Amino acid sequence: MENIRFKALIVSETDDQRFVRVIGAKRIEDLPAGEVLIRVHYSSINYKDALSAAGNKGVTRRYPHTPGIDAAGTVVESAVASIEAGSSVVVTGHDLGMNTSGGFAEYIRVPAAWVVPLPEGLTLRESMICGTAGFTAALACHKLIASGVAPDQGPILVTGATGGVGSIAVAILAKSGYRVIAATTKPQEADYLRLIGAQEVIATAEIDDQSGRPLLKPRWAGVVDTVSGNILSTAIKATQYGGTVACCGNVTSGELHTSIYPFILNGVSLLGIDSVNCLIGLRLDIWAKLAGPWKLAHLEAITTELAGLEALDERLDLLLQGRHRGRDIVRIGS
Ligand SMILES: NC(=O)c1ccc[n+]([C@@H]2O[C@H](COP(=O)([O-])OP(=O)(O)OC[C@H]3O[C@@H](n4cnc5c(N)ncnc54)[C@H](OP(=O)(O)O)[C@@H]3O)[C@@H](O)[C@H]2O)c1
Repeated sequence: MENIRFKALIVSETDDQRFVRVIGAKRIEDLPAGEVLIRVHYSSINYKDALSAAGNKGVTRRYPHTPGIDAAGTVVESAVASIEAGSSVVVTGHDLGMNTSGGFAEYIRVPAAWVVPLPEGLTLRESMICGTAGFTAALACHKLIASGVAPDQGPILVTGATGGVGSIAVAILAKSGYRVIAATTKPQEADYLRLIGAQEVIATAEIDDQSGRPLLKPRWAGVVDTVSGNILSTAIKATQYGGTVACCGNVTSGELHTSIYPFILNGVSLLGIDSVNCLIGLRLDIWAKLAGPWKLAHLEAITTELAGLEALDERLDLLLQGRHRGRDIVRIGS
């Protein structure tokens, strides 16, 4: 196998610090050491992939590099008895696609601990419609529900609602009986958001408070936030007594400026969501939910399927500009 050449998206840094993307050839022997060699059938685009593919060194330190934090495929070789050659598997998170050659390639080689058996109830393709974004949305919903927020307590706000995490959070919460208010910068996508489960669609500008007040009129029983910055700060201030805010992403900022008053006067809880290092027990539970009770009715409505690695270039830029919708998956090989 070691000499076999395969196709991959390769991002390289030029002498003048620009980053260029080509579809090139790699060899199996170029892949990092690992117990499991996987033939990738599908991958998907996440925000972090767009950053890595644009040369963001907070995500990827060294180039040339193949991004792709998600991969679903078939085991070709395995050094551990619990993972059989020929089995269908999913890899998301850990270091895949960050500083380990990722899923935008025909093959990956990873440690056995990163490998999850394809959950019963999902195809390889469906597992990548979920991917890291869906896993993160499900983890956020799981933690929000576990914190005690019930459907009869009031509406749940989802920010960045047309994005990958946002779309799947809207759909899961609606399916679980919650009244979902979707906040978006794309008013033209209101019909899409209603189709996947939002009861109301509002403009993100409406929840971008500039008053400086420490507390706002209570509006939300819970929040799934994907954009952070002042939107998250506003959401915390407008969460009702005893409510919970799940913080997933940093699209607008890595900063959070707040006071302690929502926490000590309203008993608001702020939950951190991490999909990357999520422990295996919880990881398997979340995948089982995505494959079972939370399997989305509108998987196709949120999906754009790219035919091959060549189609990634344009879509990666669109995602970085916040101009895409839902989930992009890429079919790799026949
Ligand atoms: N914690 C974790 O483990 C984890 C896992 C996955 C992702 N994430 C993070 O979660 C975030 C979302 O990821 P994703 O894959 O869903 O990304 P995505 O598909 O690109 O969605 C991001 C969405 O944010 C909104 N947005 C973009 N620019 C904005 C702006 N300037 N102001 C306000 N809203 C803006 C857009 O939705 P609207 O147009 O509808 O507003 C966009 O679709 C990212 O920061 C990502 O790194 C974290």
